[in-house]
Amino acid sequence: MTTKKSPSSKSKPKKIKKAVFPAAGFGTRFLPATKAIPKEMLPLVDKPLIQYVIEEAADSGIEEIIIVTGMGKTAIEDHFDISFELESLLKEKGKKQLLKMIREISDRVTYAYTRQKQPLGLGHAVQITKNLVSDEPFVVLLGDDIIDAKVPATKQMMKLYNKVNASVIAVQKVPKNQTHLYGVIQGEKVGPGTYRITDLVEKPQKNPPSNLAIIGRYILTPGIFKSLEKTKKGRGGELQLTDALRTLLETEEIYACEFEGDRYDAGDKLGFLKANISYGLKHSDISTDLKRFLKSLKL
Ligand code: UTP
Repeated sequence: MTTKKSPSSKSKPKKIKKAVFPAAGFGTRFLPATKAIPKEMLPLVDKPLIQYVIEEAADSGIEEIIIVTGMGKTAIEDHFDISFELESLLKEKGKKQLLKMIREISDRVTYAYTRQKQPLGLGHAVQITKNLVSDEPFVVLLGDDIIDAKVPATKQMMKLYNKVNASVIAVQKVPKNQTHLYGVIQGEKVGPGTYRITDLVEKPQKNPPSNLAIIGRYILTPGIFKSLEKTKKGRGGELQLTDALRTLLETEEIYACEFEGDRYDAGDKLGFLKANISYGLKHSDISTDLKRFLKSLKL
């Protein structure tokens, strides 16, 4: 039997600077809208979904963004690049505020892109970032999982990571009849909203080990790359990150963080609309009129 690396036996946790954004999926739940537009670029009020998640990463101290793109995803690169034509037009028209707004997210962090030639699974998307991540802990964030929180969800997870010096996965309680849609953990509660994971199952069709579903945020140790190499294709013939985490669990401890905040699955039609209404109601330009409109609906 292998002994697991105990957090206390390790040195100080390394600072997490890099974040991986797998964005090479086909977004089939949102077709036909996602035929030519990446789902990560769908707007939440006035910003593409992925920008909210990159802002969450930057607000949590991340400095380098690594985006895994695929076919038809060039709009993502263009969005975070500098658009000289647009900028000179805004300058000419004296639109300083807009200019500042479009520049801010490009300047806050650095961007690197790598291409997943075929969508072979979330695990595979993470695996191909090995050389860019190299030997350090990193975060994986899914660009369509929007979390509205006072303290950014990634920052909440980093707080736990700094305590346990091990991989940390974000989880949320979901109704029992929805567990088959998620990766689900089995864990031992070790503190408020904190679990030491004992097992994980990807989309359990029966007997889910708990109602704690894995949400699109993961702090991972570089050990995950070895685990991914050892993991065989799973559900849907894809390399599943959950399966690789199960392999990682054989040698390292993994913790779960039940974050505080509202989460929207914006890669799904209903979740996307809920997120737009909720963010719209908080947006200074439109909140009053949107509220009035919603009240006027005879439901
Ligand atoms: P999803 O399970 O949401 O798949 O992937 P999807 O293809 O994007 O969307 P649906 O379910 O068909 O509507 C979770 C995340 O992993 C990325 C996706 O882009 C998404 O952010 N992913 C998935 C990859 O980057 N590569 C893959 O091979 C699979």
